[in-house]
Amino acid sequence: MSDALFPLSDEHKMIRDAARDFAQKEIAPIAAQFDESGEFPHETIKKMGAMGFMGIEVPEQYGGAGMDTLSYVLALEEICKVDASHGVIMSVNNSLYCHGIMKFGTEEQKQKFLKPVASGAAIGAYSLTEPMSGSDAGTMKSRATRDGDFYLLNGRKSWVTSGPVADYMVVFMVTDPAKKQKGISAFLIDTKNSPGFNRGKKEPKLGIRASATSELIFENCKIPVGNRLGEEGEGFKIAMTVLDVGRIGIASQALGIAEAAYEASVAYAREREAFGQKIGEFQGTGFKIADMKTRIEAARLLIYNAAMAKERSKTTGERFTLQSSMAKLFASETAMFCAHAAVQIHGGMGYSKELPVERYFRDAKITEIYEGTSEIQRHVISRSELGLK
Ligand code: CAA
Repeated sequence: MSDALFPLSDEHKMIRDAARDFAQKEIAPIAAQFDESGEFPHETIKKMGAMGFMGIEVPEQYGGAGMDTLSYVLALEEICKVDASHGVIMSVNNSLYCHGIMKFGTEEQKQKFLKPVASGAAIGAYSLTEPMSGSDAGTMKSRATRDGDFYLLNGRKSWVTSGPVADYMVVFMVTDPAKKQKGISAFLIDTKNSPGFNRGKKEPKLGIRASATSELIFENCKIPVGNRLGEEGEGFKIAMTVLDVGRIGIASQALGIAEAAYEASVAYAREREAFGQKIGEFQGTGFKIADMKTRIEAARLLIYNAAMAKERSKTTGERFTLQSSMAKLFASETAMFCAHAAVQIHGGMGYSKELPVERYFRDAKITEIYEGTSEIQRHVISRSELGLK
């Protein structure tokens, strides 16, 4: 990547190199093993916390590293280039959990719910989806009923990244069904001190297998009113605002996967011979490499553009929904394109667990699905361009 459009500062280079180093030394040796077993990589995630990777943009007074969005994107890309499972745990912790509390939390909530998670001492999760409400998030059914100084939470949430292990969560529930999206509120859950909160079945997944995903079950789970994030009825807006940030994270994850697939392909195409020449000398392989490289660079520009828009929004307050959706859409489809081409270039070896290429292929797919499918991103982009919303 040339530095022409986005010259990196020394600070940016430092965090990028630190993440690259950490990923190579600490994650690369264990990635295949944790993918195979589906175990949660507690130890390496703790170390990532100690490096400041779990709350990169959170100010130091709240346990974070106090850096900017581009720093976050650069570090996440490097982690995901080695292992997308570690990457999504990091992304959800930073974007979907910490960002929401930073933006909408009270001082008391920041002290209790943000500090331990941003510092990496605890893990955070975000729970929007339900078994019958995915893309159409506004139709959720879980209920939060006010009972004096408390809320009683009831319902079932699903597909919660880090659900089986998270210490703290932000959960969205209906407080007034008549008001539809404006009747949804957000709540902070201390999972160790919330009787009536239970973790449901763990999802057996195609990819990102070392990141744990589960259902959550709430049965008369009583939480104080002080755990409500934002005002009553503000939950859907909070969920969407936070997803605008989350989607930049998933785009960076996708970029990391795409680059890993690309670099493996270039190395293999230079070495492997068939019909008396390196396979890279066949135009069929060369053109795949050209398309991969071009899409990766375009994805990177969209992601950096979204990161800059988010950075600007800290002073202007302007939304960056469009930039974030475009980055997520293009980067995730680039990850799938590159992983698919990488398997093809590697032939039988691309299908073997002896190389990480088949893992890139399995990991890439989810980036087109979670935090808003590609169809949802196209919906968001097109209605913005057509002035429909
Ligand atoms: N920022 C701020 N406010 C927003 C917003 C945004 N990005 N998007 C919408 N809103 C506001 C709207 O302005 C509107 O408010 P007003 O009426 O005051 O203007 C309100 O929210 C309702 O908006 P819509 O009418 O657009 O709502 P909708 O029901 O049509 O839904 C949607 C829009 C874009 C399709 C949305 O439902 C969506 O993003 N769906 C996908 C959900 C998703 O990404 N789920 C993934 C969950 S997380 C996950 O994957 C698991 C994990 O752990 C990683």
